[in-house]
Order: sequence, then structure tokens, then C-alpha cells
Amino acid sequence: MDRTLVIVKPDGVERRLIGEILGRLERRGLTIVAGDLRQIDEATAKRHYAEHEGKPFFGDVIAFITRSPSFVCAIEGPSGTWAIVRAAMGATNPADAAPGTIRGDLATELTENLIHGSDSAASAERELALFFPTLR
Ligand code: CDP
Ligand code: MG
Repeated sequence: MDRTLVIVKPDGVERRLIGEILGRLERRGLTIVAGDLRQIDEATAKRHYAEHEGKPFFGDVIAFITRSPSFVCAIEGPSGTWAIVRAAMGATNPADAAPGTIRGDLATELTENLIHGSDSAASAERELALFFPTLR
């Protein structure tokens, strides 16, 4: 078994797409093992997106992810679950995301692209520790 971090970003919550997005992951066979609606604070957002510090979009993505509540969850499935989730999400830019993916079916904007999923096993471990420090 393996776990990864998923965030239904503020646009997904505002558009009432939590059920649609998490439903797709559940129908795939993945399990939500922790989750809650929370407004991510600036310090947590900056730690979460630390790899992007200094890039031109950093300010925009921090402002976006902190502007209203997100649904933050831990998703469990077989080994490599992070990659299953990433494939279901589609490309970062929804304009490039394949039909059938979450971003490809439900989004058009690069910053407001509905969902975050950890991009490696190491990222999943780091991000789960950041958002769910007591989960075991
Ligand atoms: O979310 P993902 O891992 O697919 O992409 P990323 O490259 O790690 O970028 C993190 C987030 O920053 C994206 O999901 C977008 O919300 C935002 N972003 C942006 O606004 N403009 C870019 N040029 C790249 C990313
Ligand atoms: Mg990323």
C-alpha cells in the first residue's frame, strides 16, 4: 500500500467539484484515508511549493492556493499511487491535458487547474508530513 497527497484547490471547492474530483479517484479504486476542508495559510503554502520559489508564477500560485478553503486529503492505493493520481489529473496546463483527465475535462486555466497531486514518492512523503503530521 502507498499514500499520496491530493489537494482539491480553491477553484475546485468554489466550483463545487470536490465530489466530482474525489469521486473519480474513488471510482478508480483509490481510498480517501484522511481529509478535511481547510484554508491553507501562507507559510504552509510556501513550504508546500518551495521548489517553485523564485519562479515568475510563485506569487500567483501562493495567492491562489490561500484565497479560500481547499479540500486536503491523503489517498491510499497500491504501490505508486502518486503516479496513478498524476495520470488521472492530466497535464499541469489544462489546455494540454487529455480528455478523460480531471484537468482535461474540467479546467482551462494554468494556475486554476483544480487539483494538486504529489509528483514522486519522496514528494508524497514530504507533503503528507506537512499536511497530516499525525497520520500514520
Ligand atoms: O501541479 P503540478 O505538479 O502539475 O505543476 P507544478 O509545475 O508543480 O506547478 C504547481 C502549480 O503552480 C500548478 O499546478 C499551477 O497551479 C501553478 N502554475 C502556474 O500558475 N503557472 C505555471 N507556469 C506553472 C504552474
Ligand atoms: Mg507539482
